[in-house]
Amino acid sequence: MKLRAIIIGIVALFIYSLIYFAYTYKSEVSQTVYEDSFFYYANNDSSAKKNSDSFLDSKNATNSNSSSPIVSYDTSLSETQENLTDISLKPSLKINHSLLDEYGNLPWTYPPDLYCKPKSFSFTDDEIKYFWNYKNYEKCKVEVLYEAEISPNSMSIKCANGASPEYFTDTRPERLGGPKIIAKWQKDLRDYPNSQYVMAKCNTNSIYSFVFNRFKKQIEDNAKIKSLKFSNNTRPLTVLLLVFDSVSRGNAYRSWPMVKDFLLNEITQKPFSEKFSFYDFANAAIPDIHTMDNMPQILLGLTLSQTESILKASTSGSSKFLEIQKKSIWNFFSELGYVTMVAHDDIFDYLPKIVGREILVDYVFTNFWKACLSVYGFQNHNTKQRCAGDQDSHYFSLNYTSQFIRNYNKSNKFVYMHSNAGHETSGNIKTVDKDLYEFLVSTLKFYDEKNGDLALFIVSDHGIKFSRLQFEDRGFYDARIPMTFMIMNKEMEENMAAKEILQYNQYQLLSRFDINLALKNVAYYPHGDLSKENYENLKKDYPVSDVVSIFREKIRNDRKCEDIKVPTFSCTCKDFEEINTSGSSEKKIIENLILLANKYIDIHKTKKSCKKIETWKVIKAKKFEMMSSKDGWDAFYDMTFIVQNNVIINTMANFCSEENKEGSKLPTTKYPETTFYIEKTNYYMQISHFEIEGNNKKEICLE
Ligand SMILES: *[C@@H]1O[C@H](CO)[C@@H](O)[C@H](O)[C@H]1NC(C)=O
Ligand SMILES: *[C@@H]1O[C@H](CO)[C@@H](O)[C@H](O)[C@H]1NC(C)=O
Ligand SMILES: *[C@@H]1O[C@H](CO)[C@@H](O)[C@H](O)[C@H]1NC(C)=O
Ligand SMILES: *[C@@H]1O[C@H](CO)[C@@H](O)[C@H](O)[C@H]1NC(C)=O
Ligand SMILES: *[C@@H]1O[C@H](CO)[C@@H](O)[C@H](O)[C@H]1NC(C)=O
Ligand SMILES: *[C@@H]1O[C@H](CO)[C@@H](O)[C@H](O)[C@H]1NC(C)=O
Ligand SMILES: *[C@@H]1O[C@H](CO)[C@@H](O)[C@H](O)[C@H]1NC(C)=O
Ligand SMILES: *[C@@H]1O[C@H](CO)[C@@H](O)[C@H](O)[C@H]1NC(C)=O
Ligand SMILES: *[C@@H]1O[C@H](CO)[C@@H](O)[C@H](O)[C@H]1NC(C)=O
Repeated sequence: MKLRAIIIGIVALFIYSLIYFAYTYKSEVSQTVYEDSFFYYANNDSSAKKNSDSFLDSKNATNSNSSSPIVSYDTSLSETQENLTDISLKPSLKINHSLLDEYGNLPWTYPPDLYCKPKSFSFTDDEIKYFWNYKNYEKCKVEVLYEAEISPNSMSIKCANGASPEYFTDTRPERLGGPKIIAKWQKDLRDYPNSQYVMAKCNTNSIYSFVFNRFKKQIEDNAKIKSLKFSNNTRPLTVLLLVFDSVSRGNAYRSWPMVKDFLLNEITQKPFSEKFSFYDFANAAIPDIHTMDNMPQILLGLTLSQTESILKASTSGSSKFLEIQKKSIWNFFSELGYVTMVAHDDIFDYLPKIVGREILVDYVFTNFWKACLSVYGFQNHNTKQRCAGDQDSHYFSLNYTSQFIRNYNKSNKFVYMHSNAGHETSGNIKTVDKDLYEFLVSTLKFYDEKNGDLALFIVSDHGIKFSRLQFEDRGFYDARIPMTFMIMNKEMEENMAAKEILQYNQYQLLSRFDINLALKNVAYYPHGDLSKENYENLKKDYPVSDVVSIFREKIRNDRKCEDIKVPTFSCTCKDFEEINTSGSSEKKIIENLILLANKYIDIHKTKKSCKKIETWKVIKAKKFEMMSSKDGWDAFYDMTFIVQNNVIINTMANFCSEENKEGSKLPTTKYPETTFYIEKTNYYMQISHFEIEGNNKKEICLE
């Protein structure tokens, strides 16, 4: 019996490694290969889990050559970049808080008694190049041009090469997650008026995609009937929740120069300044850097563990998922008479783990990307550019959303669009800039004169771990402050008396639950605002007592991470913390640091006979934790010792689980390393700084 289990285990492990290798290989290499046989497996739970964690990808991200990630990472540590590594070891620049924030131009004028003030930080241009190491992407290219005539009932494509195009479309129910959809090419276009996407092939390298949101009078009428139960108001409200996965606030400003300019400059000038306001919540906090920790809070108002305990490992298709969607934000809008839409470009099974595959809204748009995998060979974890014909993958989410808001211009409507354009660290996120900019301009123009009120949220679930920032506190703050932007029209802002409160809340410690409650608050707006009683009742549904709608209430100045269920390791209110040097783990860390310091002396000693550290006493012991223990416990230490003859020694060291050590290793010939066990886990430590106080910096010798 036991033997059988072991054999099954070994076989499973073997198959899994094969699949994982195949997956990694394919996703990195297959630029031209459009068919893939591994995907059938890759979507199974075990590997989907592996691939759904945003930061796992990051270790293999690379600039120069995506087909050999590890190698190119190592060789890229050339002479000049090694000097940059040394830059990364310097403590963060302390910026005068009254200066403008270089990314957001948001003056850091914190209320004087604000408890949580994340350290401000900045990166030089050279550092940005080094740390993020982004690829350059170009416009998506196709060989053969086309002309299209498109109307709601017919569509015809003329290929410039004279070929008559083949078409692929289908109308199966829209379901989140895999498997991929295999294209069946046809000479004629079938069931066009009901299809949400059409792919048209002029030749193998010229396949165009078109997406369609199909207006249905019935949907408009149903929403109207529901809405009339609450009010007779005919001025519609549009609420857009655009989620860009894995984009920190800093990364949004760095990767999207056009969007940045639009938000910070164009919106504040005519014509937009007369109609719209923009807010940038610069002090948002996250429970952890994974989608699964954040989206249940934003979408359901529940923590991940609450969600999991409700679902109790339900399998796909379980009615538990339909039950949990009763708590979803789209259901909340739907009940108040909104037409609802969800677009999701993820072909993996992780959002389905919290809400199921079937989403209860009027429009779901997601099958398109399952067809993209078979037709174009990309999925949302690829580091190669994701082109569906002449447009990037995310273009279709924005285009579909634009059509939806035009089709239902008379209705209240809610959109949750989730894009994975930034879900890995190669720099694909930069391709979003132009398309998002154009989306913003056209959307604001659409709401400028008519079409009702607008509340547009552009947020992220979390930032992402970039390996070269593994032991940088600036990297910590950058990754753990997610983008949280909001645009709304001024008329609604005035009616809600929200301006001063929103301005104030931009600096306050913001939680994911606040976003959920803000959405619920604004949902009531067409119906004459939310009563105090209803508002207080809504608050009772959260697992935290300190929750506010950002439109309605100022966040308390003394709010702390623990008040909003953000664990200490993820809390951006923190700085270096003192460690308890009598703890048994800490003792072990200190002993190993002394060992490394002695090795360091050995390597760098400037005289023939230098002494080792023989006796020592800790006089400063601080650490900065970057990752939870589950994610490898990345941390760095800053310690000062007094050794024999009253000599003072300053040291710093990087620390993480053995699996994480490749991330930003320094050259080991100069910076000694070691591994050791703490409570059955193997940890890695590398000394990154060593200095004898009073000595000339270059002089490493203990007399
Ligand atoms: C993946 O899932 C499918 C369908 O559930 C199953 O038939 C297949 O055997 C699974 N593959 C692996 C490698 O577990
Ligand atoms: C990175 O790539 C290497 C070599 O292809 C592979 O062995 C390793 O498992 C990959 N790591 C991750 C986290 O994907
Ligand atoms: C990647 O490396 C391979 C093998 O060394 C080489 O043939 C290819 O041109 C490289 N690609 C890029 C984009 O540098
Ligand atoms: C890098 O450091 C070395 C040694 O300190 C120095 O000689 C070299 O000029 C530096 N390179 C750059 C680009 O700063
Ligand atoms: C910060 O800036 C303010 C205003 O420019 C200035 O008065 C103050 O001296 C500065 N503080 C530091 C520490 O540079
Ligand atoms: C809408 O108007 C009708 C007719 O004036 C009125 O009877 C009804 O109560 C109104 N509905 C709401 C929700 O105010
Ligand atoms: C959607 O994309 C198509 C093809 O690029 C374009 O012609 C159309 O104007 C777009 N629709 C909207 C509403 O942006
Ligand atoms: C919706 O669009 C139509 C056509 O452009 C326009 O006539 C109508 O006024 C719009 N509805 C609203 C409520 O603005
Ligand atoms: C430090 O750790 C020791 C040993 O675990 C414990 O006895 C002591 O209470 C701790 N001190 C503080 C201040 O936490």
